[in-house]
Amino acid sequence: MIIEEKELTQLKVKIHDISKNYPLVDLIYIYIILISYKFIHYSMSLVPKYIKNLSPYVPGRRIEDVKSFSDTSNIIKLSSNENPLGPSNKSIIEARKVIKNAHRYPDSSGYNLRKLLAGKYSINIDNVILGNGSEGIMSTIIRTFLHGDDQLISSEDSFIGFRVLANASGYLVHWVKTDNYYYDLCSIAKKINKKTKIIYLANPDNPTGTYFTKSVFDDFIKKVPRKSIGYIR
Ligand SMILES: Cc1ncc(COP(=O)(O)O)c(C=O)c1O
Repeated sequence: MIIEEKELTQLKVKIHDISKNYPLVDLIYIYIILISYKFIHYSMSLVPKYIKNLSPYVPGRRIEDVKSFSDTSNIIKLSSNENPLGPSNKSIIEARKVIKNAHRYPDSSGYNLRKLLAGKYSINIDNVILGNGSEGIMSTIIRTFLHGDDQLISSEDSFIGFRVLANASGYLVHWVKTDNYYYDLCSIAKKINKKTKIIYLANPDNPTGTYFTKSVFDDFIKKVPRKSIGYIR
């Protein structure tokens, strides 16, 4: 419960009326109420601390913004993984076809696409998951698997998308220092404990651009208990 300023004033007036013959009592009561008000106000903030502590993502500059202060006409944007060649004609044709059905809910399970992918890679359709980019899938994994006092492990200063999702989850995350900008898989393995549920590895890493080899990964995965989910991109 958060006491509104107005309610507090009404309370103070009531106490004053009751104890007008006892000015000292009046003062003490008001003081106690003020302290509890401040305590309730700060301890019951609507936004959890781990959300307040998040820093907003700062995207790379847009080409239009760079043009406003640079004479260079040929500006190539390297951030944000955008394709400078634009969408393929095939995808434009397909997008035009489906726009005619925009008044209907699409198949949210993406059955046809999952069936095609399962066939292509000879795997069960239940093992194919679709998402709006891999960040959407990371978010699903975090929301689906974490509960109680589960914990996560990843590398410090690795991919910001995961850092934001993990910190926003409110679960304890062990951010392991990099070794000269490389993922330190030995130290990550040492951090594994009974509560470890998710280990996130970006390979190659973003933004460092460093990577670990298959044999290093094979050694690492032997140390990961079966109940932990290794998410690798
Ligand atoms: C390591 C890593 N993971 C995930 C992503 C998110 O990409 P997307 O959601 O397009 O798959 C990026 C994007 O830069 C990335 O660098």
